[in-house]
Amino acid sequence: MPAPTATLALMRNPDQHRWLLANQHALPEAIDEFLRYESPVAMATLRFTTTPVAVDDVVIPAGELVLVSLGGANRDPDRFPDADRLILDRRDTGHLAFGHGLHRCLGAFLGKLEGEVALGALLRQHPRLALAAEVRQLRWRDTIMLRGLESLPVSLHG
Ligand code: HEM
Repeated sequence: MPAPTATLALMRNPDQHRWLLANQHALPEAIDEFLRYESPVAMATLRFTTTPVAVDDVVIPAGELVLVSLGGANRDPDRFPDADRLILDRRDTGHLAFGHGLHRCLGAFLGKLEGEVALGALLRQHPRLALAAEVRQLRWRDTIMLRGLESLPVSLHG
């Protein structure tokens, strides 16, 4: 899991940072919320319709290219109450950060474990971590498929 994006989410939500420092045993569940809130794979790989597909009152004809926004689905307010808020004890693993169905991520377990190890070490070793740049100065990777930072300047001592 891209730890810089999760770290930024923590720095921007000091109440959640404090909560996680006090509840580090809850990190495995919190990882799911980080993945929902800032989905690293923002767009699924390309799909094509083989038959007409109805989505609400829109029918996508057969043979069309379909781009599915996993990041958008993970902020759907009809599915996730207060979808634009990071709520680390949300305890909802029904997000689409690893895709869905036949092609769901084969490395999901490993990806979550990596995030847990990286963020856990960061929290333990640098509990006073703080953002060392203006949010508007941060540069995001120039691709619509992935959501990730080019870099994240931090101060280790608050
Ligand atoms: C947090 C980290 C990760 C995220 C967010 C992630 C996300 C995704 C997503 C969204 C898909 C489905 C794409 C689609 O349906 O178009 C996918 C597929 C896949 N991922 Fe991951 N992934 C992560 C880590 C990993 C790791 C660590 C591995 C391998 C060690 C891995 C291996 C794969 C493979 C092989 C597929 C293709 C599965 C298939 O097409 O049947 N992923 N991943």
